[in-house]
Amino acid sequence: MLQKFDPRNAQLMIYVGNELLPRDQAKVSVFDSVVQGGDAIWEGLRLYKDGVFMLDRHLDRLFDSAKAMHFSKIPTRVEIKKALKSTLEANKMSDEVHIRLTLTRGEKITSGMDPRLNTKGCCLIILPEYKPPVYDNQSGIKIVTSTIRRNSPNHLDSKIHHNNLINNILAKIQSNHAGADAALMLDVHGFASELNGTNIFMIKKGRIYKPFADACLPGITRGLIIEIAKELGIDCVEKNISLVELYTADHVFCTGTMGEITPIIEIDGRIIEAKEKNDILTRIKHSFEMKIPSHSVKVAEL
Ligand SMILES: Cc1ncc(COP(=O)(O)O)c(C=O)c1O
Repeated sequence: MLQKFDPRNAQLMIYVGNELLPRDQAKVSVFDSVVQGGDAIWEGLRLYKDGVFMLDRHLDRLFDSAKAMHFSKIPTRVEIKKALKSTLEANKMSDEVHIRLTLTRGEKITSGMDPRLNTKGCCLIILPEYKPPVYDNQSGIKIVTSTIRRNSPNHLDSKIHHNNLINNILAKIQSNHAGADAALMLDVHGFASELNGTNIFMIKKGRIYKPFADACLPGITRGLIIEIAKELGIDCVEKNISLVELYTADHVFCTGTMGEITPIIEIDGRIIEAKEKNDILTRIKHSFEMKIPSHSVKVAEL
């Protein structure tokens, strides 16, 4: 499903560096590391009427990424929350908002790869947009398997939520040409890893299965689904999952902040028949919705 421009986003105020600027004036320098080398990290957050969902878990991952990237002069958790609060208040936003929070290594004194050229410290960007979940979570989505492999820890460790998204973008281009909604990406051994922008799960004979988080991003939503399965007393097993296992699963679904929980109804032309009677997926979706209030931080309390 191709996203469309939402007129509610015409007058956005966006946080860049230390300022809040109108949409058309919010820019980074051409000397910024994100322009020079995609040298940045990011988090996608969601604001519900109950507040910003699982904010501290997202910030934990952001700080882990910043440490792995050896960033310096990183804003503190308190500073990021303050910036987030002022941005959401400036936009008078209270629900149906996706927030793309990016932290770049900052501006360089001259173009080049060397992080020692970054003398000014990190640049924080907070881009909030009205954006309801991007997939049709009732009808589900169709996916195709991409020939582009997910990076292994040998190449670029997926534990860093970095801005080098070309790997995923190439896979997405393939799915666009195939008329699908998203691309399934395999790991270097040919096992399912994740979709180009979401994590994948399957359900078979009353059990949930998920790929090892070796080549996929360890998603915050993925983590919550694992907790929910435990609470519901449903086994959630981590294993290598082959394409044939996915084709013959009772249910397949993907998870992420952008789309929440989305059923996958077709993979490479094979229909996923939703055979299971005691519908685990419905129970998981229900528990997820029930958790939103208790797992969200109100904007006023940021
Ligand atoms: C490649 C990839 N996989 C999975 C996810 C889902 O992660 P989360 O549940 O933390 O949004 C994302 C989100 O940014 C992603 O970029």
